[in-house]
Amino acid sequence: PEPEQAAPQRQPESLGAFPQLRMRRNRRANWVRRMVAENRVETDDLIWPIFVHDGDGRLPVASMPGIDRLGLDCLVDAVGSGSDLGLSAVAIFPYTDDALKTSDCREAINPDNLVCRAVRRIKQAFPDIGLICDVALDPYNADGHDGLVRDGEILNDETIELLCQQALAQAQAGCDVVAPSDMMDGRIGALREALDVKGFANVNIIAYAAKYASCFYGPFRDAVGSGSNLTGDKKTYQLDPANSDEALREVALDLQEGADMVMIKPGMPYLDIIRRIKDRFGVPTAAYQVSGEYAMIKAAAQNGWLDNDKAIMESLLSFKRAGADAVLTYAAPEIATLLKQR
Ligand code: PBG
Repeated sequence: PEPEQAAPQRQPESLGAFPQLRMRRNRRANWVRRMVAENRVETDDLIWPIFVHDGDGRLPVASMPGIDRLGLDCLVDAVGSGSDLGLSAVAIFPYTDDALKTSDCREAINPDNLVCRAVRRIKQAFPDIGLICDVALDPYNADGHDGLVRDGEILNDETIELLCQQALAQAQAGCDVVAPSDMMDGRIGALREALDVKGFANVNIIAYAAKYASCFYGPFRDAVGSGSNLTGDKKTYQLDPANSDEALREVALDLQEGADMVMIKPGMPYLDIIRRIKDRFGVPTAAYQVSGEYAMIKAAAQNGWLDNDKAIMESLLSFKRAGADAVLTYAAPEIATLLKQR
């Protein structure tokens, strides 16, 4: 047998002339970049939040370019186009007339409220797309808060009783998932029990487990008309942006109480939280690219300061990289369209 070949002598003057490993080889062409890509944005991951209003036609949301509140007459077609694009689910948010906002939030539990009517229509036309309803009182509250308010205080346990009735009305109407976004303590366990007792054991719960008291919800509050009503802020129930360990405790509780999936919100400013939660719990994890994040990208794109499509796709990739399984984003149809064109 041939003696093993000695490594070629390197001339002293060429020492270090060649990098031992050239990382750029795996980046040099599109085929290899695609081959080694660690994360991918997929249409299956996308949840599309939709605003509805109780009238006909489309009402634009000024602070969210490209987003309209849809009347029930346009809603079914819109969901149909989302379904054709392959979006996995839609989440319905109501713009409620001021006249229906009261301090007892009774419209929240009206089985014929706008959300329930929207759900019935969608379910009838498109039974296969996932249908998610927010559980919280803010669209119906004269104070704009997610919970009942008495003497300036947000009442935890009294709120939960209403939330259970709200979720039951939504389940009765045919929604697949209830998504409590209120941040009251103990609501997941109470909702699970209420749903199970009434025969809705198959309704999923996506818990807004780590929902921060964020300024990035501003445009959403314009869209649902709760911004001008809001007295004070939501800091006594939503998480402090300074905290991260606390988010893990919230998630642990929600899972213990029966959450099927947990959500982190907002998204991009909280990618570290997504990663910690995914690493610690390994459960289905969603992230919400909220209204303010969407508005930032759109505003920059409209000014020609960012490339809209690239910025949207890169932002979505950051969620995947951080460990999110699903992403709620107002750009869902846009992204699905871009993915189809690839
Ligand atoms: C309300 C709710 C909010 C959002 C989703 N559900 C706003 C809030 O807590 O004030 C925000 C979503 C967004 O900004 O896109 N319970």
